[in-house]
Amino acid sequence: MKDDLNMTEIISLCKNRGFIFAGSEIYGGLSNSWDYGPLGVELKNNLKNAWWERFVQQEPHNVGLDSAIIMNPRVWEASGHISGFSDPLIDCRNCHTRHRADKLIEEWLHNRELAGIKNEVGSVEAMSQTEMENFIKENKIPCPDCKHCDFTPIRKFNLMFKTFIGVTEDNTNTVYLRPETAGGIFVNFKNVQRATRSKLPMGICQIGKAFRNEITPGNFIFRTREFEQMEMEFFCEPKSAPEWHKYYRQACFDFLVDIGIEQDALRFRDHSPEELVFYSAATTDIEFKYPFGWGELWGIANRTNYDLSRHAEFSGEDLSYTDPYTNETYIPYVVEPSVGVDRMLLATLCSAYRVEKLDDGDERVVMGFKPKIAPIKVAVLPLSKKLEELAFNLYKDLNKHFRCEYDTTGSIGKRYRRQDEIGTPYCVTFDFDSAVDGCVTVRDRDTMVQERVKIAELKDYLHDKIYG
Ligand code: GAP
Repeated sequence: MKDDLNMTEIISLCKNRGFIFAGSEIYGGLSNSWDYGPLGVELKNNLKNAWWERFVQQEPHNVGLDSAIIMNPRVWEASGHISGFSDPLIDCRNCHTRHRADKLIEEWLHNRELAGIKNEVGSVEAMSQTEMENFIKENKIPCPDCKHCDFTPIRKFNLMFKTFIGVTEDNTNTVYLRPETAGGIFVNFKNVQRATRSKLPMGICQIGKAFRNEITPGNFIFRTREFEQMEMEFFCEPKSAPEWHKYYRQACFDFLVDIGIEQDALRFRDHSPEELVFYSAATTDIEFKYPFGWGELWGIANRTNYDLSRHAEFSGEDLSYTDPYTNETYIPYVVEPSVGVDRMLLATLCSAYRVEKLDDGDERVVMGFKPKIAPIKVAVLPLSKKLEELAFNLYKDLNKHFRCEYDTTGSIGKRYRRQDEIGTPYCVTFDFDSAVDGCVTVRDRDTMVQERVKIAELKDYLHDKIYG
């Protein structure tokens, strides 16, 4: 990662190279909505596949699921989202901008800490609405936009997007876009356990879209209203939950390092007892050092038996489990590692971005993705127009095995730079000798070392390099 990386550099590279575009751009955009371009979708799919391979395929207790986005609204009553999934909204009376009261306080405390003033407030999350209002007034916390301190009282703003099923738009037909994928997993606990004849522990994993009407979205794809989550609900015996929490806390961290996120830009943050939600026995955030500061990337929580107990109560279904060996019946505890695909992608982009000074005084921008995560694995570059037919055939052959690009425009140096900037780990140059000796030159993105490789052995050579 570049030391002084800022979001503008990342956003601009993403737009220019086709990773991420502003949503609905030709209509002037839609605030904080983003579209993934040709490279963005490849990168996103590679991250999702890596997660699936690691947490579904390689974990003997785990299976996958793909549940509906629109669910029976009772699900969200049981989970507490209808009554409690809200942010404390506050308006500035002077400039009429809208803010989250908890974020205003956190930001103010953070700035004081930076100025060397010790923070004596336990946890902002644990503050009541009145405590937040009083705190803002007493400390004269200013509006970040106009610097006045004149705010309306706090109002609770529910973050779920509402819509209607069928033709009548009334309360009886109200449904919600899911605010997390977890709900679909909890309601399918019994189905999955019965159908797979699994004994506990058992993890159910799901990747899918989630929607939250965030008051203060921002920082590019860090906080958006439509995003994707990769969640696991790991159902286990109550006594074993702390061990599984510890296991997944480390497994998630190791996974991030394995996909190429810089270890120095990652840290664990265990929630203090005051910060924990009432049903959680332990929660750890894995935070990443984004260009705008440390922020949550992955949350790993021991949610006790709260979710299954609530769904059992609201649905009337028995969601307990009887251990076939001990005959003990209990409501399973749940360990939940939950991560946003978009945040993981942002951390991957930031970690990969570097600018290098070259010997000739020039600079090159390199996206140093791990080869298995890179959106394009191989670029095939013919050295001359006359070689295009042969080179294109080689590209078509390689493309059956790896995501490849074929580029004929500009000098070979310019083509290498373009591939460096999108993070392609290997460039294969087809030259005049290739047609005669059956070899091509393979250039390594990071070392820039070039090696002559037989075309007949190229597929295996690249496979070892990328996945070996
Ligand atoms: N089921 C638990 C749950 O949803 P969360 O902390 O609200 O917990 C989990 O969300 C993860 O989803 C976060 O760690 C983050 O990576 C991602 N996430 C949450 N809100 C997001 C948003 N508005 N935009 C992008 N990613 C978000």
